[in-house]
Amino acid sequence: MKLTIIGASGHGKVVADAAARYGYDEIEFLDDDETLSECGKWRVTGKTGKAAEIDNDLFVAIGNAEIRKRMMERYADKKLVTIIHPDAVVAEGASIGVGTVVMAGAVINPDAKIGKGCIINTSSSVDHDCLLEDYVHVAVGAHLSGTVRVGELTWIGAGATVSNNVNICAACVIGAGAVVVRNITESGTYIGVPARKH
Ligand SMILES: CC(C)(COP(=O)(O)OP(=O)(O)OC[C@H]1O[C@@H](n2cnc3c(N)ncnc32)[C@H](O)[C@@H]1OP(=O)(O)O)[C@@H](O)C(=O)NCCC(=O)NCCS
Repeated sequence: MKLTIIGASGHGKVVADAAARYGYDEIEFLDDDETLSECGKWRVTGKTGKAAEIDNDLFVAIGNAEIRKRMMERYADKKLVTIIHPDAVVAEGASIGVGTVVMAGAVINPDAKIGKGCIINTSSSVDHDCLLEDYVHVAVGAHLSGTVRVGELTWIGAGATVSNNVNICAACVIGAGAVVVRNITESGTYIGVPARKH
């Protein structure tokens, strides 16, 4: 099974490792940086525009949510796939959108709904009944308690925690280690314990 990954960054390398364990035995990267010839043990075979010509599975591994969204929209007619590391736990009743990656050690509990183009990063958790809109990133070691809602493009930083029943609006950055205990209704960057606007 062949997979083409757009974005030969550190994030792309981790996505490729998950994809290889998920069952892809042939992986190539596309990137517009011509100085890149490989990513981990995989080759960079061309620029991102080459994705228009392929008909195998495709994944956009770009950390920046706006660019990831743009790329996924550009190649929406291609075979965009979901990648779930075999050491992630995805409960029955949870749903995960296309173009989302779930990394090793992540746990997604029952009836969580995760949109498209999301990153559920290493050892993070998304508890029961959470609703994550498209292009959300839950960074390494971050935890969303039950029934949390997160708006499109929001980035929950490494090791951050969100209390249950809290809503976070679109286009926010939650700083590393922050604890979000109240709804966030205005986009922006929030840090600290409890999290406050930066
Ligand atoms: C919140 C964040 C976006 C702020 O970035 P920034 O605007 O460039 O902020 P700066 O680094 O200039 O820091 C400004 C001040 O805020 C403090 N600060 C920055 N991030 C903080 C955080 N997460 N928690 C508490 N304080 C923080 C800095 O110490 C600095 O304080 P000072 O002015 O007293 O020296 C960033 O620090 C962060 O936490 N990013 C998340 C990283 C991450 O989770 N990566 C995961 C990859 S999977």
